[in-house]
Amino acid sequence: MKGVVLAGGTGSRLFPLTKVTNKHLLPVFDKPMIYYPIQTLVDAGINEILVVTGGKNAGEFLRLLGNGKEFGLKHMNYTYQEREGGIAEALSLAEHFADGGPICVVLGDNLIENNVRQAADKFRSQPRGAKVILKKVADAQRFGVAEVLSERVVRIEEKPRDPASDFAVIGIYFYDSSVFEKIRRLKPSGRGELEITDVNNFYIEEGTLTYELLEGWWTDAGTFESLLRANNFVAQTGANKLSGASVDQLGRTSGKSA
Ligand code: G1P
Repeated sequence: MKGVVLAGGTGSRLFPLTKVTNKHLLPVFDKPMIYYPIQTLVDAGINEILVVTGGKNAGEFLRLLGNGKEFGLKHMNYTYQEREGGIAEALSLAEHFADGGPICVVLGDNLIENNVRQAADKFRSQPRGAKVILKKVADAQRFGVAEVLSERVVRIEEKPRDPASDFAVIGIYFYDSSVFEKIRRLKPSGRGELEITDVNNFYIEEGTLTYELLEGWWTDAGTFESLLRANNFVAQTGANKLSGASVDQLGRTSGKSA
């Protein structure tokens, strides 16, 4: 299975931080944001990765990531999104790269504490369809929200005013190769975008969407509040894991020093 990181968009919710750079190049604690979704794919056992980006700073991704040596990769693939058309539109650019095989898609501003290796392995043995990952949240209105009935996702609603559940659909998705044909059937939503939620609903209609629940923390980082939360989560746990140091609730570090 190949991996796709979606790192385009205008980052308008983070203006003026994103006035002269791409959201996914902003720091999250000690690394640029895009490092985290790439690591998520690598941790899931995926080593053929495509970065989809766009805008004026696209060249910076090449300078930053090169051939992905820091992630133990031999090669990194890039493609350029000419216009802002939403997550599903960005994903459509990965069709050539996917080459008829299954893919794992990670939104460039989604960070997780643990890994999705088990979910990836389960999807590898799923004959067809898609898999989404759910996480219980307190602010479901901000996300795609899954309605779950007797162990099946029966509907996903994008940013509902009145959410059917507390289960957000996080920005890590597994798709078979029919995803591209489904994207071609999409119509722009109220916000003028091709929505990934509509793609997922096509799989629900087809009866081929499965789900997993995520353990550990998850956050997006596309708003000031969530970017701060991402920084704090990583400072308290992620950096801790890497350095062997321990960080308490107030962010004070103790233990092994560098
Ligand atoms: C997007 C998706 C949404 C998903 C979220 C996860 O939202 O549309 O379904 O729950 O990512 O981060 P957006 O970042 O466009 O607000």
